[in-house]
Amino acid sequence: MKRRDFLQNGALGMAGFMLPSKTAWNSTAASRAADSRIEVLFDEPLGTISPNIYGHFAETLGGVLYDGIWVGEKSRVPNIDGLRKDLIEHMRKVKAPVIRYPGGCFADSYDWRDGIGPADKRPRRTNFWANAESEKAPQNHRYDPNTVGTNEFVHFCKLIGAEPYLAANVRSLPAEAFQHWVEYCNSPAGSTTLADVRAATGYAEPFRVKYWGVGNESWGCGGEFTAQEYAVEFRRYTAWLPRFGDDLSLIASGPNTDDWSWTREFLTELVRKGPGQLRRVYGMALHHYAWNLSRGKTQNWEAGKGEALKFDSVDWYELLREGERMEGLVTGHWHVLNEFDREHRVKLVVDEWGPWYRPGGEATPGNLLEQIPTLRDAVFSGMTLDIFNRHPEKIAMANCAQLINCLNNLYLAHEDKFVITPVGHVFELYASHQGGSALRTIFSAPTLHYDRDGKPATFWGLRGSTSVRDKSLTMTVVNPSTSESRLAEIAFRSATVKEAAIRWMSDPDIHAHNTFEHRDALAPRTKQLSVNDGALVVEFPPACVAALNVQLN
Ligand code: AHR
Repeated sequence: MKRRDFLQNGALGMAGFMLPSKTAWNSTAASRAADSRIEVLFDEPLGTISPNIYGHFAETLGGVLYDGIWVGEKSRVPNIDGLRKDLIEHMRKVKAPVIRYPGGCFADSYDWRDGIGPADKRPRRTNFWANAESEKAPQNHRYDPNTVGTNEFVHFCKLIGAEPYLAANVRSLPAEAFQHWVEYCNSPAGSTTLADVRAATGYAEPFRVKYWGVGNESWGCGGEFTAQEYAVEFRRYTAWLPRFGDDLSLIASGPNTDDWSWTREFLTELVRKGPGQLRRVYGMALHHYAWNLSRGKTQNWEAGKGEALKFDSVDWYELLREGERMEGLVTGHWHVLNEFDREHRVKLVVDEWGPWYRPGGEATPGNLLEQIPTLRDAVFSGMTLDIFNRHPEKIAMANCAQLINCLNNLYLAHEDKFVITPVGHVFELYASHQGGSALRTIFSAPTLHYDRDGKPATFWGLRGSTSVRDKSLTMTVVNPSTSESRLAEIAFRSATVKEAAIRWMSDPDIHAHNTFEHRDALAPRTKQLSVNDGALVVEFPPACVAALNVQLN
């Protein structure tokens, strides 16, 4: 089975200080010679890192919305206007910049008109994911009560300080409905009937929603279009949209992983009406899930998946190998884009990314597509965010799939229980990259060697990304080795270090994760680093994701 069929069926240690005993720190390490080198090239800026690269995705799927984000105004769970308070507070802390909603596949079955007006008058509808839901799932996962609609979602975003990114339905609603959704959200107070409807439920001022997806996975659950057919629909759905004084950033449904032909054929058809058509596209979506942990044995969507909590070190590297493909996907699709767009205006929007495991490891039984992230997913997420940081001129936005109770979640929640996962901690470690100027950085470290089912295999030894803002530099680093620490000399050519601190996550157990009962089993730790002659020597323990915050002279 392929993914599209499944969807169709609904279905540190640091030199110079003491380490806590939990790290795999060798006390002689501080005195050993460095085995790695990291060189920051200040004269090679790569571009500004869009804060939106640190974006999120919340679909009306399983426990994401109901139980995850929405608990209800009358709930005993601490909430702000029905929205989970702990979640809002942590998302503010990680400076969540943008949230995509309502899907995903759900988007192309959703009628936004069901989610407006008084909540108790809204219809219940069969959720896109209903057929895949299990007996254990609560009723509101299978039948959408529409308690959360546009008002509640936009309010959630505003409480966090994030921009909403709405995905329009191209498969089952006409273009007119898209125009009216834009009108509902953005027309000025008192200007249209839909602005009055909005005002009647407490939102007189326009939402000024800027980011709009034109369908989702239009090659599959979003309509089973060919790339040419979708391009025709894209032109039609975007031919006239009301602007109300603000530019809209329209995101075209893009390829799955390495489907280069989708990108090329979509663009070929789009510009058949002239190169000016490219001006309608702010971004081209790209989806990539790391799901195939079969070590090359199968391409079957069900059989190829691995488990979230039970894995060995080869599975660990297998997941990272799947994630590592992201760099080639970004550069590859970018090259195709530039065959058409010589001005490099159209950017990539990686609006779904993360690991996808087989069912069985849910924190709350019955939550569809829920998995419990471990240290492996934290290292994977850090590695992926570093890839995005290294390509700031290509990527306008990225959205981790998904925010809460689903896939590569930052948070798990059920009723009054709430926990920040290792992935959530990574977003906090990396937050200071947002808006920074990315600098080319050369990582030299011994290559990892391991046995992949009797065949020798390799993986890189140390990688990361660097950004700078004024005199403040952030460097994030991943050590993917499950057994070896790395001692790295960090050279800041043409700059010297005044002071530096490191925040990192690692654990001797590569399966380490947080649960409702053990909420802090894996959390970042912080240490000041000693600076010698304006330079740093840092040890990265095995299985580690780390952020260095460096003040320069
Ligand atoms: O994130 C889960 C699903 O994966 C989304 O609904 C869909 O777009 C993708 O295939």
